[in-house]
Amino acid sequence: MIREIGESDSDLKIDDVISIRDFTREQIEGLLRLADKMESVFHSGSDVLRGKILATLFMEPSTRTRLSFTTAMYKLGGNVIGFDSPEMSSMAKGENLSDTIRVVENYCDVIVLRHRLEGAARLAAEYCRIPIINAGSGAEEHPTQALLDLYTIKRELGKIDGLKIALLGDLKYGRTVHSLSYALALFDTSLVFISPKELRMRREVTLDIKSMGAKVEEFNDLQEVIQDIDVLYVTRIQRERFPDPTEYEKLKGSYRISLDTLKNAKPSLIIMHPLPRVDEIAPEVDGTQHAKYFKQPYYGVLVRMAILKALLT
Ligand code: NCD
Repeated sequence: MIREIGESDSDLKIDDVISIRDFTREQIEGLLRLADKMESVFHSGSDVLRGKILATLFMEPSTRTRLSFTTAMYKLGGNVIGFDSPEMSSMAKGENLSDTIRVVENYCDVIVLRHRLEGAARLAAEYCRIPIINAGSGAEEHPTQALLDLYTIKRELGKIDGLKIALLGDLKYGRTVHSLSYALALFDTSLVFISPKELRMRREVTLDIKSMGAKVEEFNDLQEVIQDIDVLYVTRIQRERFPDPTEYEKLKGSYRISLDTLKNAKPSLIIMHPLPRVDEIAPEVDGTQHAKYFKQPYYGVLVRMAILKALLT
């Protein structure tokens, strides 16, 4: 099933959103242009998706992703059904994912799925006749977050090419940084991975993006590069993914961005975070010109509107 984006200046065609690796740079740029056009629709509303139904199937906790897809669908005139924990669905009775998908596809036009297992979205798409959007597959990927992260960078700094971008925190278990690294590797960026050695970027991601031509450096300490970077993307240590809780106890609190940490930063540095934050950014940073993490959720609605329009019109 191939769908046109409905945008005359782009030949973007997408049928599912499973991995950011399925996208070309041209497709991503087409989606970001469409997100720009969604800004006026966000304010005026639209009925372009009237009669269409989105199902949100969330088997792990979520605030932003589920609510922003819901808002995006309503802004485009569609409707939303779904559940926000497996306990609320027949999965609690032992129904498996493929059966759930083959039932739910009868009720809707597109499914947004979050699941604790890597590969879950890909598996669901194999069984499903309608588009699947991966809203987080274990520690593996979170492709729509990567799209909204790129959009935030473009909106706030005017470009993506030519930037030095640091990803900091839990690069091993954080799915957003996996998708974002692949996405940034399609652009002319310099990537800096900053983490404790136990939480370094997954080796396969580093190898893959290097083979795509990405420039990558790795550090433990942010201070070694703070003066050179244009974007600081901070992540939470992913407590729920640690096989050993004592390992989490050892590593939690590894980083805390404060005004002091930012003393030598460029005035134009932007700080992003997919949220939720725990304690990795001090609240005193929120009021600085650097902080963009509470603007990301707004950009996320525009990007998710663009994704839904691209899939459903
Ligand atoms: C992220 C996620 O679920 O991976 N949250 C989000 O979707 N904005 C990040 C996280 O949970 O740390």
